[in-house]
Amino acid sequence: MQNDIVIAADSHVYLPADISAPSDWRSETTSLESDIRQGVLENGRIYQTLRENKIQYAFVTHNPYGCNPPPRVQTDFRSVPSDDQMFETYENSHLLMIICDSDLENPLYHAPTGKLPKHILDIGTGKGSWAIDVADMFPSATVRGVDLFPPPLSWIPPNCILEVDDILRSWTWKDPFDLVHIKNLDGSFNAQEQESLYKQCYDNIKPGGWIEQLEVSYFIECDDDSLPGHSVLRSWGPRLAQAAQKAGRPLGAMHTMRDSIANAGFTDIHVKDYKLPIGPWPRDKQLKEVGEVNHQHWMGGMEGYGMWLLTHFGGPLALGEGGGSGLYCTNEAGAYGYEISYLSTQSTGLGEKAGTGTKHRT
Ligand SMILES: C[S@@+](CC[C@H](N)C(=O)[O-])C[C@H]1O[C@@H](n2cnc3c(N)ncnc32)[C@H](O)[C@@H]1O
Repeated sequence: MQNDIVIAADSHVYLPADISAPSDWRSETTSLESDIRQGVLENGRIYQTLRENKIQYAFVTHNPYGCNPPPRVQTDFRSVPSDDQMFETYENSHLLMIICDSDLENPLYHAPTGKLPKHILDIGTGKGSWAIDVADMFPSATVRGVDLFPPPLSWIPPNCILEVDDILRSWTWKDPFDLVHIKNLDGSFNAQEQESLYKQCYDNIKPGGWIEQLEVSYFIECDDDSLPGHSVLRSWGPRLAQAAQKAGRPLGAMHTMRDSIANAGFTDIHVKDYKLPIGPWPRDKQLKEVGEVNHQHWMGGMEGYGMWLLTHFGGPLALGEGGGSGLYCTNEAGAYGYEISYLSTQSTGLGEKAGTGTKHRT
């Protein structure tokens, strides 16, 4: 190799997990938020992490393998990767909801904000697709999307602002929101953080404004018996829920959000449930389309949704016992092809901060 060739540096360098990084190894994006650290590479996926967001390992009392848990007592909580594969998964789940609600005038959300909302916030915006589409739909509104890391975008509408921040800190936005939107944040917070997040939403929404949340169940279901009882796909959801419980970030927001929204003080609460095919097996044309996209969503997303939780908190189970990663599930689903009527479920919940706003009509 010639010595005079200058090798161009990658501006996004990822550290292997468990290396305590010297402070000068941070990415350029961290200048936005001094303690948002560079990502780490673990099991082939890239994760972003907050230095102070540490959680205790919840040790299992019964250990069938007779060995002690690893000596580490703390770990950064990472949840889902922040890499291209995950962004594609978010894109698919966004598209999925647009197809599901394509018969509505506004397929992006249900809250009756009217045609001239002024300030909208999307919490944990991921790739920012929802925030961007809402900004396009309401050019006179300011739509903010906030996440722990910046999405890989080169262009956003001028009325859309994507910010890097930790939503659990005190909010400093000055204008009260017409709508705060949350999508797929299940498992990101412990009970205390969750309560304070809903409270901050309430305090920062204008009277007559709305909170709207969409959450997915990680349980893969089937209305008939075509999905075998021993299928890893059946046990993947329960295993993930068990691991999340051990991690202190329980799953199940789809079922708890109604109470969480009510407990924060919101009224006029509505919940809409969706049953979504995985794969193009339904006869109905719209559901077939939903199934196609949902299949892409789960096949591309299961590894990312499950990898960190299952490898850190899933317990040392053999693959056949359902301890497999999302990748194993993906392979199994691939092997079954489209012969099985898989389903996933999700719900949208919304509530109003009492005021003079428009009432929701179901
Ligand atoms: C499963 S993703 C969902 C992304 C997007 N809402 C969607 O549905 O496509 C959850 C997102 O929440 C973000 N998140 C988790 N905790 C957060 C926090 N404390 N502050 C801001 N964002 C957070 C994660 O970084 C991740 O992008």
